[in-house]
Amino acid sequence: MKRIALLTSGGDCPGLNPCIRSVVRTALANGIEIIGIHRGWRGLIDNEMEHMDARSVAGIVNLGGTVLRSSRCPEFREPEAREKAASNLLERGIEGLVVIGGDGSLNGASKLARQTNLPLIGIPKTIDNDVGGTDYALGFDTAVNTAVEAIDKIRDTATSHERLFLVEVMGRNRGFLALQVALACGAEGVLLPEVPTDITALCAQLERCREAGKVSSIVVVAEGDDAGNAYEIAQKISDQSDYDPRVSVLGYIQRGGAPSAADRVQGGLFGKTAVDALLSGESSKLVASRNGQVTLVELEVAWKETRELPEDLLELARILAS
Ligand code: F6P
Repeated sequence: MKRIALLTSGGDCPGLNPCIRSVVRTALANGIEIIGIHRGWRGLIDNEMEHMDARSVAGIVNLGGTVLRSSRCPEFREPEAREKAASNLLERGIEGLVVIGGDGSLNGASKLARQTNLPLIGIPKTIDNDVGGTDYALGFDTAVNTAVEAIDKIRDTATSHERLFLVEVMGRNRGFLALQVALACGAEGVLLPEVPTDITALCAQLERCREAGKVSSIVVVAEGDDAGNAYEIAQKISDQSDYDPRVSVLGYIQRGGAPSAADRVQGGLFGKTAVDALLSGESSKLVASRNGQVTLVELEVAWKETRELPEDLLELARILAS
């Protein structure tokens, strides 16, 4: 293998740049030429590529976002778009591809690999941490820390004014981010898409906290909760109680910012593992973290396996919220 390429696809997150740096430098250390594809699948279809060297990735380990840029590209679901992508790869003599993406992008990667027989390795990333087959996706740790820092500040106002705050975090239709954030910021409640929301029970729980002497309450709401968004839930709470809740939607700040030390190191490990896998003849595999070890699993597990929320963390959240 003499030349490989790399792209980042889907929603950006912290940890992409340390991972890009690792892929580039591992390839170069093995005497392999490395091509960076801009703007994910969009850039591959449009043939936007650059030759990368060690200096292309200098000074990026601490940067959020992706220096290669990213995109959501529904067109890549069409076989014709993948044909175009494949012929661009072929023309450049690219013999292997590393795709850093979430489950949607990795599904596209798998289809491309099947259509072309191109050796391809996926690396999981998303602040939602919902990629199947891996305990960890790049960006999650930083997003958790960003949300916790914000909620610690909201707590100051909640306490000073003896208020209830509903804080909505991202996660699409999964509650990994919300659960981790709720535990880390000592939330009095957490609403998750995986657990049916009972507003009456939530009000009773908040009331118990108040009677126990708590002066403020924070409820973390996952954006995909079945009871609606944080504003709708706030309305339902005020309809059923004497609370006058305030709402804060954290939004895209959770996707940005400098990667945490953990995301930098994990990005480095994931990137090196992907290049090593290509060099040892692997294909259609996902780099995964399982029980603290970096390993390879079948790529299709990324979207076929549904990860369960950890039962022990759910129980912990219930006990600590009192
Ligand atoms: O998957 C990451 C994520 O940030 C989700 O948490 C969120 O629902 C979604 O992407 C937002 O997508 P977009 O960037 O397309 O608005």
